[in-house]
Amino acid sequence: MKKDVMLVTGAGQLSMAIARRVGFGKKIILGDKKKENAETITKIMNDAGFDVVPMEMDLSSRESILALIAEGQKYGEIRMLVNGAGVSPSQAPIEAILKVDLYGTAVLLEEVGKVIAEGGTGVTISSQSGWRMPALTAEQDELLATTPTEELLSLPMLQPENIRDTLHAYQMAKRCNEKRVMAESVKWGERGARLNDIAPGIIVTPLAIDEFNGPRGDFYKNMFAKCPAGRPGTADEVANVAELLMGPSGAFITGSTILIDGGATASYFYGPLKPEQ
Ligand SMILES: NC(=O)c1ccc[n+]([C@@H]2O[C@H](COP(=O)([O-])OP(=O)(O)OC[C@H]3O[C@@H](n4cnc5c(N)ncnc54)[C@H](O)[C@@H]3O)[C@@H](O)[C@H]2O)c1
Repeated sequence: MKKDVMLVTGAGQLSMAIARRVGFGKKIILGDKKKENAETITKIMNDAGFDVVPMEMDLSSRESILALIAEGQKYGEIRMLVNGAGVSPSQAPIEAILKVDLYGTAVLLEEVGKVIAEGGTGVTISSQSGWRMPALTAEQDELLATTPTEELLSLPMLQPENIRDTLHAYQMAKRCNEKRVMAESVKWGERGARLNDIAPGIIVTPLAIDEFNGPRGDFYKNMFAKCPAGRPGTADEVANVAELLMGPSGAFITGSTILIDGGATASYFYGPLKPEQ
């Protein structure tokens, strides 16, 4: 029997929370570079009545993305996409962050945009981190939004001499995600589909715990202590936003990035988290 298909990348906490919220009744293809992560989340979800197939896939490879799509198409039309795969500044070197978070996301949005069903919806996960980086020029923003995917990593602004450290690489990748979602949403719209982006603040997941224990651990702990919410967020709160963006209540929202960070960005610019000059 044919079923609506939901593609999910990254078998992490954010992906799972979103998939549990909106994936009922769908065939869910869950891709992760670490097959064991995909299998773990698959078991939890299938034990709770979902219909998940785990798959080894690498977001930084177009071939692997195409294989994920092809697997999904065996079961029916691709109606939903959740891109929750990614690596953080403490987990990977600059090159890997750009290849996975920036290039891989751009390729995924492009390829799924070629096959998404009418009425389909997608979300990708960027980060509040991109919001703290100073504004780029209008020309740089446009290059991030529209440069053909295979040329993205050759942009001068992404070359090693222009990327200070892994945090800067991550911020550029997440800024690119936002711009890419705007540009791709226009193409998705031509198919009657919508595409949005969620920029979370600190959400407790294994990725965030790696950050708490990494070189910027004190910075992160201070950030959630001094943000208006006074705590880190949970994956289920991110799923609340995804449910809006991916469901009928979000029908007029496309090409958007929604910031969900407990007010950390507001505090960074205008409150106690403002860096000392
Ligand atoms: N947790 C946070 O505080 C936070 C904040 C802002 C943004 N984000 C973003 O949310 C996304 C998901 O993060 P999470 O916190 O759920 O992390 P997580 O560590 O729970 O899950 C991420 C998953 O992505 C997988 N992955 C890594 N590289 C991959 C690749 N090349 N191909 C396929 N899978 C790959 C990992 O194996 C892991 O299972 C990331 O893009 C991250 O940058 C997270």
